[in-house]
Amino acid sequence: LNYLTPKTRKEIVDYLIRGLQRLEYRGYDSAGIALDTPDSINITIIKETGKVKALENEIEIKAHAIQFDHTHNTHVGIAHTRWATHGVPSPVNAHPHRSDDDNSFVLVHNGIITNYKDVKVFLMQKGHSFESDTDTEVIAKLLGHIYDNDKNCSFRELVDQAILQLEGAFAVCIKSRHFPGECVATRRGSPLLVGIKSKTKLAADSIPILYSKDAKTTLSPDHRGVGALGSSVTPSTPPSLVAPPLSRADSTSQFGPQGEDKQVEYFFASDASAIIEHTNRVLYLEDDDVAAVKDGVLSIHRLKRAIDDPHAREITTLKMEIQQIMKGNFSSFMQKEIFEQPESVVNTMRGRVDFENGTVILGGLKDYISEIRRCRRLLLIGCGTSYHSAIATRQLLEELTELPVMVDLASDFLDRNTPIFRDDVCFFISQSGETADTLMALRYCKSRGALIVGVTNTVGSSICRESHCGIHINAGPEIGVASTKAYTSQFIALVMFALMMCEDRISIQPRRYEIIQGLKNLPEQINLVLKQDENVQTLAKELYEQKSLLVMGRGYNYATCLEGALKIKELTYMHSEGILAGELKHGPLALVDKLMPVIMIATRDPVYSKAINALQQITAREGRPILLCSAGDTETQAFGSSFIEIPHTVDALQGILTVIPMQLLSYHIAVMRGCNVDCPRNLAKSVTVE
Ligand code: G6P
Repeated sequence: LNYLTPKTRKEIVDYLIRGLQRLEYRGYDSAGIALDTPDSINITIIKETGKVKALENEIEIKAHAIQFDHTHNTHVGIAHTRWATHGVPSPVNAHPHRSDDDNSFVLVHNGIITNYKDVKVFLMQKGHSFESDTDTEVIAKLLGHIYDNDKNCSFRELVDQAILQLEGAFAVCIKSRHFPGECVATRRGSPLLVGIKSKTKLAADSIPILYSKDAKTTLSPDHRGVGALGSSVTPSTPPSLVAPPLSRADSTSQFGPQGEDKQVEYFFASDASAIIEHTNRVLYLEDDDVAAVKDGVLSIHRLKRAIDDPHAREITTLKMEIQQIMKGNFSSFMQKEIFEQPESVVNTMRGRVDFENGTVILGGLKDYISEIRRCRRLLLIGCGTSYHSAIATRQLLEELTELPVMVDLASDFLDRNTPIFRDDVCFFISQSGETADTLMALRYCKSRGALIVGVTNTVGSSICRESHCGIHINAGPEIGVASTKAYTSQFIALVMFALMMCEDRISIQPRRYEIIQGLKNLPEQINLVLKQDENVQTLAKELYEQKSLLVMGRGYNYATCLEGALKIKELTYMHSEGILAGELKHGPLALVDKLMPVIMIATRDPVYSKAINALQQITAREGRPILLCSAGDTETQAFGSSFIEIPHTVDALQGILTVIPMQLLSYHIAVMRGCNVDCPRNLAKSVTVE
């Protein structure tokens, strides 16, 4: 939104398109934009399938009609990239969605409305027709319906009423032809933040929350959501969806620019990277906040006050820099992120590990360590690559904490209704801090009284904010959909936690010492692995036309097998499987013949001789595996068709070094197969739906 700073329509479009490009890594099967018409009387919606570039081209084609040179003093533009959950990727299913042909209410939405079918049936009975297959469209139609029944409501009050009827997860941003220059946004479950850019100093560092104390609706609680709209309601007596206007909140405590020279722009976004080039002053909305901008003033409303609710939302200053999220000289973000690992691991350890004195202090956990030491067990929960970082560090955590350690995929953990106790300590590992399954698992454990520890790469993310304590992995923004540097930093974060847990145990000091020395040498050793990029590329040439690739290992290297196979699948669309070498003779050996490509990880560690047994079983079936083995280990190298040498480190850290050739290999195979490295088909960086 732009106030008192005339902006051309071209500038407004550029703001929106650039924002979408920064978010493209989250989902990208279609994109859309909504602008006022030049006369500000109606709303123009442009949508395209494919990447943001396709939308940009479409806008260029329509440049004449859009009137790029026309200027606005105040304007609300909204835009969205979609990753399909309901309805195939198509222009009609792309956002923004609208309430009617007149574009009365136009909105973009992240998340899933779980009761959308019931709401849709209700609205269809009321005569509304739908143009898309999406759950999102019901929100727009619902707003239109409420407005048609009560034209005296303010824009914000309409949204208050609409969200009472919705179940599921949403972050929504809405504009309306009936309320020009106003924008209302709200969230539940999905992330949403407000960026504030002001030429003059802001009057406050926080925005007070306004409560609609006397809020009442004509619907009793039993008539909300599914209850109100479900199949149990007979068509002849549908409950009214229309609520009387909510009492007007006290308007004196609203937030806005001060003085005559008031110039402020507001940005609503699901991720700070969309707006960071305009402002680093942001506030994070909480579930059921309704934020409204009207006459250049931002206000935040809630229906009811809970006892422990804060009075205001803080405005924070983000440290993220735009260069950090640019690609630099690399051909893709993923390649850049792989090569950043010598620095990103240092950033994870910075100010935490004292290599001289052998101490580790994690500021976000230190007040909780004695409580954690007394716990019943540790649970490590995550999805995808984050889950693999838990597998990678489980053995060390068991060894150094002497506690039982459970490792779970968030979705499966929830499916099982896993028993959780008050004296459990639950770690939620997530690069984005927004993965819906992980967040749901967090809430499940929190409601059962467990201590919640977040391990994320995104300051201010939902998992961060909902944890009791935690570790920021500080790997820097990760844009490539396939996670690389976040994995190695998660790995190190958990190792640091294990070290912190055992600093008082005398008997374990030599072991702590060797691990801390190992951490110190890691950046240099990662550099040595990265120097073998050309060898890995040569391997990729041998492999890129294959259909399948097995990755085998055991002990501390098992996590690399899983993570390596995941990288191959995600990036190259080849079939790949990570196999625990100990399980080889219980099935996977049947796959092995002289044609099946196999990568075997056999570094010099306590399970080396067992790994060699597996290797011999493979060579006995005429398999000629590619080896990831310790540097200078000619004895092992003799078993393979080719090999990549991995610098030797302490067993517990070896997986950090063995995973890097797998990251490089998947990158090169993806390039050779013509795949989109940063945006693999069908995948999204941040999966904010269950
Ligand atoms: C998606 C991404 C993966 C990632 C997983 C968990 O599937 O494509 O790369 O590992 O989500 O994401 P998180 O942000 O929770 O680590």
